[in-house]
Amino acid sequence: MAGSAEHALKHVQAGVDLIVAQGSEAGGHTGTISSMVLWPEVVEAVAPIPVLAAGGVGSGRHLAAALALGAEGVWCGTIWLGSSESELSPDMRKRFIAARSQDAIQRKYDTGKPLRGLRSRWTDAWDAPDAPEPLPLAAQKLLVAPALKRLELANAVDYMGYMSGQIVGSIKAERHVREIMKSMTTECLAVLRTLGSKA
Ligand SMILES: Cc1cc2nc3c(=O)[nH]c(=O)nc-3n(C[C@H](O)[C@H](O)[C@H](O)COP(=O)(O)O)c2cc1C
Repeated sequence: MAGSAEHALKHVQAGVDLIVAQGSEAGGHTGTISSMVLWPEVVEAVAPIPVLAAGGVGSGRHLAAALALGAEGVWCGTIWLGSSESELSPDMRKRFIAARSQDAIQRKYDTGKPLRGLRSRWTDAWDAPDAPEPLPLAAQKLLVAPALKRLELANAVDYMGYMSGQIVGSIKAERHVREIMKSMTTECLAVLRTLGSKA
């Protein structure tokens, strides 16, 4: 998993078989470079090692774009969270379906490192002008873990904000993983055919 070409080259030196190039719009810990810029930079830097494109992928058009930018395939996270097979509770899944792309915000107060996740009353409190600065990695996680656990046990959904990328704004309804996969591949093939006919 790499968020910059330099990062990817270090993985190559360590002997990896493939690289996941993850743009900043992804859910979870992220860097600062967006997918559109990062994917081809990593592809060029590590060739001939295969690259999977991650960060903001949720449709066949994204898959076609990743192939156009030199990736061998894609690696998805957020799009599965709205699925029927998702690890989320039904209440949290509803919040994912209602969320907009701008509700997936990057912050340091969950783990001490930049992490993108869903906005909530918890994140609003940390973003308030009088809120303290987060501690470094590990210490911040230890500090907030008991509070986060209590919020979860109380099912305080408005305060809970699971990891999420900006593609959350495209999740409009609960679907089975099988349907998501099928629509992704069907749409990608249609896009590639259309593009081919324009050549
Ligand atoms: C809920 C969730 C948990 C994740 N956990 C990890 C993890 O433990 N390690 C990791 O390298 N990436 C993790 N990621 C990042 C994903 O592997 C993936 O790169 C990312 O979700 C792709 O971007 P997307 O969210 O826009 O699809 C996580 C992402 C999400 C949404």
